[in-house]
Parts: sequence; structure tokens; C-alpha cells
Amino acid sequence: MPRKLAAGNWKMNGVKASLGEIRILAETHAGSDVDILICPPATLVAQAADIEGNIRIGGQDCHANKSGAHTGDTSAEMLADCGANYVIVGHSERRTDHSETSEQVHDKALAAWDAGLIAVICIGETLDEREKGETNQVLAKQLAGSVPIGALAANTVVAYEPVWAIGTGKIPSFDEIAQAHSFIRGFLASQNETSEAHGMSLLYGGSVKPSNASDIFALNNVDGALVGGASLKAKDFTAIITALEAST
Ligand code: PGA
Repeated sequence: MPRKLAAGNWKMNGVKASLGEIRILAETHAGSDVDILICPPATLVAQAADIEGNIRIGGQDCHANKSGAHTGDTSAEMLADCGANYVIVGHSERRTDHSETSEQVHDKALAAWDAGLIAVICIGETLDEREKGETNQVLAKQLAGSVPIGALAANTVVAYEPVWAIGTGKIPSFDEIAQAHSFIRGFLASQNETSEAHGMSLLYGGSVKPSNASDIFALNNVDGALVGGASLKAKDFTAIITALEAST
């Protein structure tokens, strides 16, 4: 069975004072049986990882190389050195703002594995692609390009994030989410060890809120969520984590 994971992506939000939100989560969910992850900005990773409790910490991106002349970048090894356990790679904001290709995302995922991190690999279609009926082709292409061969349930999480649902308050229908997740699971199984593909956590991301989390977590092949805006405040994220804890 895939592990259930509630992942928060703070994006370019958060200063030292925001670490209190992670402390509240750690206290509230001390005995939780789901995995809880916060990916703060790189400036807070080390301090966030020092907070006692069971909240895992991740980066939001990493460079494919271990070190070198790459001004402004952070390597997977550096994130691991700060106490991170995960790193998001291929978020659509990186694919758009930094023109990242699936090939680069693939190399970043390999770097994450090398550093002992779990790679949270993001994929998702634009509204235009969905309206043209191209969702499955886009997902297949991104999966084939971004997820390295040999991915294991222990080192890879795949996040399905329709680009048009991120930060917009819009989400696909529950049927559409279930269809996308079933397609992703099937595709991963066709490329990797079947048991590994079936053990990988598949997250839905894009406008997950306390009000829609339970319905999303009830869907087949949805093992958790990657949450942006609603992960910034412990109160909102706790409601989502609680919905995941209650899901069967
Ligand atoms: P959102 O962002 O929850 O604010 O829509 C999700 C994400 O980009 O991971």
C-alpha cells in the first residue's frame, strides 16, 4: 500500500517567524499515522528540519549537479545536509518560470536519489491541453521524460497537478482526478517494477482546501495531496491532514 502523504509547498513564502506554523503542526499531529511534509523556501530548510517531531522537511527544487559554478542554485546534497528528506522537482512554476524540461527534471530526480532524498516529481496538463483532450498524452510524455527508470516506492512520489488548478480555486471533477490518477498508476506500472509502481504515493495538487480534501482523498489512487496556499497556516493544513488521516 502506498504511504499517505500530506505535503505542503510554501513556494516563495515564509520567514523565520513562519517556523511557528511547523511547530504547531508537530504538536498537533505528534502521533499521526500519515506522513506530513513541509517544503519551505531554501532559506528555512535547516531551521525547519531542526524542529522536534515528525514533520518531514523538503526542498522545492534542486540542481542536477552536486556542486559547482551555478550561482543561486541549491544541490540535493546540500538539502540533505540541512536535514531535508524530500525535494519537489518539476513543479509547473519551475517548468514555466525557468523553462525546465522533463529531461532536466529527470536529472534532478536522479540527483535527489543520489543524495538520499525522496523526489516528489510533478506533472500536469494546461487548460488548453485538457480542453483539446490531450491530458493523457501530456501526462504520459511528462512521466516518460521526468521519472527515471528504476523509480522505487521508497524514493519517488508523483504529484498530479493540473496547471490550471494551481492557485486558482478551480479543480477538475472528482471523476477527472480519479481518471488521471488511474492513468498515472497504469503508466508507472508499465515502465517500472509493478509492485514499486503500486506502492508509490500519488498526490493530487491544485487548490486543495479543507473543504474539498475529504472528497479528493476518497478517490482511488489518491494517496495524499501537494498543497500550496492552504499549507501556509497550520490551522488550514491541519484540517487537510486530519481529512487524510480519516481517509481509508
Ligand atoms: P495551491 O498550489 O494549493 O495553492 O493551488 C498547489 C501547488 O502548486 O503545489
